[in-house]
Amino acid sequence: MKAVALTRYLPTYHPESLIDMKLPTPTPGPRDLLVRVEAIAVNPVDTKVRAPKDKIEPEPRILGWDAAGTVVGVGSEVSLFQVGDAVYYAGDLTRQGCNSEFQVVDERIVGHKPKSLTPGGAAALPLTAITAWECLFDRMMVKMPPQPEYRQTILIIGGAGGVGSIAIQLAAKVAGLHVIATASRPESTAWCREFGAHEVVNHHQNLVSQVQALGHEFVNYVLILNDTEQHAAAAMQLVAPQGAICSIVETTKPLDIAPLKNKSARFCWEMMFTRSMYKTDDMIQQHYLLNEVAKLVDQGVLRTTVNQTLQPINAANVRQAHVQLEAGHTIGKIVLEGF
Ligand SMILES: NC(=O)c1ccc[n+]([C@@H]2O[C@H](COP(=O)([O-])OP(=O)(O)OC[C@H]3O[C@@H](n4cnc5c(N)ncnc54)[C@H](OP(=O)(O)O)[C@@H]3O)[C@@H](O)[C@H]2O)c1
Repeated sequence: MKAVALTRYLPTYHPESLIDMKLPTPTPGPRDLLVRVEAIAVNPVDTKVRAPKDKIEPEPRILGWDAAGTVVGVGSEVSLFQVGDAVYYAGDLTRQGCNSEFQVVDERIVGHKPKSLTPGGAAALPLTAITAWECLFDRMMVKMPPQPEYRQTILIIGGAGGVGSIAIQLAAKVAGLHVIATASRPESTAWCREFGAHEVVNHHQNLVSQVQALGHEFVNYVLILNDTEQHAAAAMQLVAPQGAICSIVETTKPLDIAPLKNKSARFCWEMMFTRSMYKTDDMIQQHYLLNEVAKLVDQGVLRTTVNQTLQPINAANVRQAHVQLEAGHTIGKIVLEGF
């Protein structure tokens, strides 16, 4: 099969940072699907895994954790899917990724693809939708269904990125929250509003004074989707008594959450690969979650977050997507289609 893979970890300008290869098609394990990949999306995790280091892989490593495709084979214990099903999924960080014509993936972390989307439109969603959904509903425990008599507020820091673009929609349209997003440029500000943000403030200026100037002394929830070290102090100041902060971005230093004590407020981490990495008992929740997101897309509640499509899936185009993501100003998602 065709694959984009690496054996050395090099900067993107190096022609061997990502290489077009021919590799054997994998064989599904008992609960695996064998999927023919039709479209992929690229995420910052791909660039973090590819980041330059001395390690050399004995076997080619395939990156990529967002795909849409068709099931072409099933393991002996598969019960949720059949050959021919159209699927979308993020996959498992501890296994080979999706930048290849065929991939094996555990059925418990795969969803049925939204019928109303092309493979490219669907590939944009799984990793970011799982992340945003788990942040809101599993970690911060945002109440569902929406409670119009007591409308709660969320601050989403990094609103126009891949995760922000779906988090804004889930918060505003599914959870019924009042959404304040952050963006720093006219085009990213406009994108946040288009996807459902009620108000937008600038993450390169003082967040506390901007949010309070809008009339919100506190917000019930803060979602940190970029530079936790930069934004943690403002998040702790703005979070409401008994509120919650969730961050998806690692810090280089320990984080002091003592300021949250008097407010009885919570700080939680989200790592969307936790369930697959640790094979948690409730790993199948990601299957249900992706099916629910697909239903909401097909009902017109949620929309795809694709902003750019590259064709075909090859090393040059994957490298181009990595360069753009590393610049840190992506709006929505970059998708690649077809081998
Ligand atoms: N833990 C997990 O499970 C998980 C899951 C997914 C992603 N992540 C991590 O979360 C981060 C975001 O992922 P993503 O896919 O949304 O990234 P992305 O699409 O690359 O995010 C780009 C956005 O970040 C905004 N931004 C740039 N600098 C910022 C700053 N200092 N403060 C706030 N926003 C800033 C930009 O807005 P402007 O251009 O307007 O400045 C841009 O729209 C990455 O570090 C990724 O690795 C973690």
